[in-house]
Amino acid sequence: MARKRPEELRSQRWFGPADLRSFGHRSRLNQLGLGPDDFRGRPVIGVLNTWSDLMHCHGHFRERAQDVKRGVWQAGGLPVEIPLSALNEVIQKPTTMLYRNLLAIETEETARSQPLDGLVLMGGCDKTLPGLLMGAFTADLPAIVVPAGPMLRGNWRGNVLGSGSDMWKYWDEKRAGTITDADWAEMEAGIARSVGTCMTAGTASTLAALVEALGMCLPGASSIPAADAAHPRMAAASGRRIVEMVWQDVRPSTLVDAASFDNATTVALAIGGSTNAVIHLVAMARRAGVPLDLDRIDALSRRTPVLANLRPSGTFLMEDFFYAGGIRALMASLGELLDLSRPTVAGVTLGEAIAGAETYNADVIRPRANPLQPEGGLAILRGNLAPEGAVIKSSAASPALLRHTGPAIVFDTYNMLSARLDDPALPVTPASVLVLRNAGPVGGPGMPEWGMLPLPRKLLQAGVRDMVRVSDARMSGTSYGTCVLHVSPESAVGGPLALVRDGDPVTLDVAARRLSLDVDEAELARRRGEWRAPAPHYARGYGLVHLRSVRQAHEGCDYDFLERGAPTPEPEIH
Ligand code: FES
Repeated sequence: MARKRPEELRSQRWFGPADLRSFGHRSRLNQLGLGPDDFRGRPVIGVLNTWSDLMHCHGHFRERAQDVKRGVWQAGGLPVEIPLSALNEVIQKPTTMLYRNLLAIETEETARSQPLDGLVLMGGCDKTLPGLLMGAFTADLPAIVVPAGPMLRGNWRGNVLGSGSDMWKYWDEKRAGTITDADWAEMEAGIARSVGTCMTAGTASTLAALVEALGMCLPGASSIPAADAAHPRMAAASGRRIVEMVWQDVRPSTLVDAASFDNATTVALAIGGSTNAVIHLVAMARRAGVPLDLDRIDALSRRTPVLANLRPSGTFLMEDFFYAGGIRALMASLGELLDLSRPTVAGVTLGEAIAGAETYNADVIRPRANPLQPEGGLAILRGNLAPEGAVIKSSAASPALLRHTGPAIVFDTYNMLSARLDDPALPVTPASVLVLRNAGPVGGPGMPEWGMLPLPRKLLQAGVRDMVRVSDARMSGTSYGTCVLHVSPESAVGGPLALVRDGDPVTLDVAARRLSLDVDEAELARRRGEWRAPAPHYARGYGLVHLRSVRQAHEGCDYDFLERGAPTPEPEIH
């Protein structure tokens, strides 16, 4: 493989010439205490760190950046740590999804405007990995991901607690009156025991797994718990590897193609992963020039078994998954369902990366002969209620509700839902279909994770634990239940969800991939004529950019002006 010469490094455009500007650039490195031995002829590696004091899942990233830097120095590079937006999923409002594209912009523009030869992408919490990768795919400098890793298992009085999933579960029990306030307070202190991302098969675990299937992190990296000593070793190894990738000019465009995205989708399905993966996969693929759409995802879902027995679809947590062999073992079980010839950042093929991988607990990582579910955990639905598609995590839904017709109870906003849901007079039965609208990319704004609509208290007290719910929102990857999500186009731009009225029959048929509003077309046309768009959420600033530019859910929610077009030129160095 051809290797770059030091004078061919991109950073040399800043630091190499014997001119006035380079004098300025080099003198400023001197100002940082760096001498010629530190930067002459060394690849400059941007360690892009999504850390902040409020980033609950990346609490180890300041230390981990030092481990990455150690590896970069060992391999002869110059590491430079650069902070990027730390999109903290739980705390940031109205939703981190509003800011995923902003992180993608930051990543792309940082890569382009700074004297960087390669990128280490440090992310893990839900929107950070897709944001970083969308930017990196567009910038197309050599890049490697250091996944944050999952946190340790939660614990409450000896019971294992899973991020999100058990919070939702016990909240319903608290509302039903089966656990006390004191029980609930104890859980609050036990559910998130260490640094790291949600340890269920939520969005973070799903994205990390599919990043590894894309070939964008070192083999096995995505399953290592954040608190495990293997994690800093992986970070240092990633630092060493990115330096070599720069010399070999291994860019994302040389690694990732349509087969890579099929691999990534297959792994996301086999892990029983988050519905959010659908949006991020489509967005990342479009950045990479791959025409991945919902039909392709559905086709892959029909052939992919769910092998990971992880909550919310199954029983175990990511710590168990790591001990059982991790993502390498899962990919080995998938075998020919993956294109093992695809290259990876490690300089080996995916097949070579998983060679020798073994499963040490066949209940956690099931063999294909004994899957958790024979088909993939996600299904794409269409019909007159979702002409451009909707998504359901069928693996985490109630089998008895996968084919269901019931009368709609419609909430125009989440506040309305909160105000009405527990009204004893609400005419709701277990057969009702709860509908939430104005929760999409524009209407939310940012498509908040409201899609696992809470159940009415009176039904919870009667023992009901699931109902069919339909919205244009997303839901947390840790959520579960018969929740139809991402209805597209969304109601705030005039999608058919805007036309549903209380009592309208709604039919869900997952096997037939159908979601329909059983109201005749003449009546729908009449309602369409009466529809008025809701007032926009923003009149200025970034929010206005979002409202004007965001694509719909089935298109990945990227901004129209960020999608592929003529390449952006490298900056002039003057
Ligand atoms: Fe960060 Fe779940 S809140 S990964």
